Amino acid sequence: MSLLFCRDAMTATTAAEQAIRDRIRRQGKITFAEFMRLALYHPVDGYYTDDSPFGAAGDYYTSPAVHPAFGALLAVQLFTMWQCMGEPADFTVVEMGAGGGMLANDIRAYAARLPDGFADRLRYISIDRYAPTGAPTDANESASAAATERLRATNVPLRGVLGCFISNEFVDAFPVHRFKMSGGKALEVYVALDDADEFVEALDKPSTPLLTERLDRLGFRLADGHSGEVNLHVKPWLGDVARALGKGFVITIDYGYQAAELYSRRRKFGTLQTYFRHTEGSSPYQRVGRQDITAHVDFSSLQYEGKVAGLHTLAYMTQAELLRALGMDELLRSVRTMPLSQHERNANVMALRELVNPDGLGGFKALIQEKGTGVTTYASLMPSEPVRRALSPPMLSSRHMPLMEGRYPHTGWEAPSLWGEWQPEVR
Ligand SMILES: C[S@@+](CC[C@H](N)C(=O)[O-])C[C@H]1O[C@@H](n2cnc3c(N)ncnc32)[C@H](O)[C@@H]1O
Repeated sequence: MSLLFCRDAMTATTAAEQAIRDRIRRQGKITFAEFMRLALYHPVDGYYTDDSPFGAAGDYYTSPAVHPAFGALLAVQLFTMWQCMGEPADFTVVEMGAGGGMLANDIRAYAARLPDGFADRLRYISIDRYAPTGAPTDANESASAAATERLRATNVPLRGVLGCFISNEFVDAFPVHRFKMSGGKALEVYVALDDADEFVEALDKPSTPLLTERLDRLGFRLADGHSGEVNLHVKPWLGDVARALGKGFVITIDYGYQAAELYSRRRKFGTLQTYFRHTEGSSPYQRVGRQDITAHVDFSSLQYEGKVAGLHTLAYMTQAELLRALGMDELLRSVRTMPLSQHERNANVMALRELVNPDGLGGFKALIQEKGTGVTTYASLMPSEPVRRALSPPMLSSRHMPLMEGRYPHTGWEAPSLWGEWQPEVR
């Protein structure tokens, strides 16, 4: 609470905004990508410089904060990948953009429940450009957190990794170049200051030929007036991952589309969004350094750049499809029949369903790529029937989003015995 108060009370210009203004005064207009980089990652008070954006008290929540089943099912996926690789003695998972470390804790905690000594073979490395402080709250989580190696880096300082790179909502946080079509050509969006010292946008020739190259590769022409974003960090990032990966897989989960959909006329104004206290906005020039700025991910470019770097696509599907393939329905069935209080059951069922809601997190996309494993179809990476049937659901804890209390505030209070245990059932 106090954190939110502090963030709100900061009406003064942030150091991030000051740095942007200074840069523009010194060198003239800057690309939108440079503006976004400074707003999100300025070393003193860029948006991501501390871990306050995350979770209930922050500006948005991601799947790991909804229910630990997200991490549990990804642990199952890592388990099947380990099996397909012949159960190597060291299987390294590298999580990129790990934020507060919730996913790492959940994956490690659930790996300990999987058979064949998988957890003992698992080495978990979290990489983030900042090192958030998100502290685990129970003994199991503390053990998982202690076993996780945390690297503060913006690249992948590893080689010969045998295992899997994984990320959740990482690529959408890369600074994007923005464009607008005019006279059949793409002009780039730059940020300048007007006479009243307000941020204004200016269109000019692209700052790099890579922007036009990406649009030329689309295979269709964009109409004049069409605006959008191009994420040029995808290529160096996947190149880095492919170089670091000796043999194994890459799992990328994020919101976005294939290029034909992302750059369709339905999205002719682009997909740039801002988030402040769970509220979506569209002006990146307000609250500079205090609000998130993000754009939808171009999954075609992840596949293309991956292929160039030696990563072969095995699957592209929705988050709901991925979680169902890994055993979500079995987890839901177990929660419905376990001896839980009605409140606990409802809260867990609601959170599990949120992860596969096609209009929400379930509509996110999952891309699975591989290098040198010999695996050619995703079917080989699905857990066997016995493994799925043996899955037991992890339970919500106080570090997760209180979704049920948020939607149905009266249910946060357990009914006293006078009125019995009855509460409405969530199916
Ligand atoms: C949207 S957050 C997602 C956090 C987390 N994966 C989750 O699901 O809650 C993006 C994270 O990526 C980190 N990040 C962005 N660019 C990075 C880079 N080049 N290298 C490492 N971390 C980066 C940010 O610091 C931030 O913690």
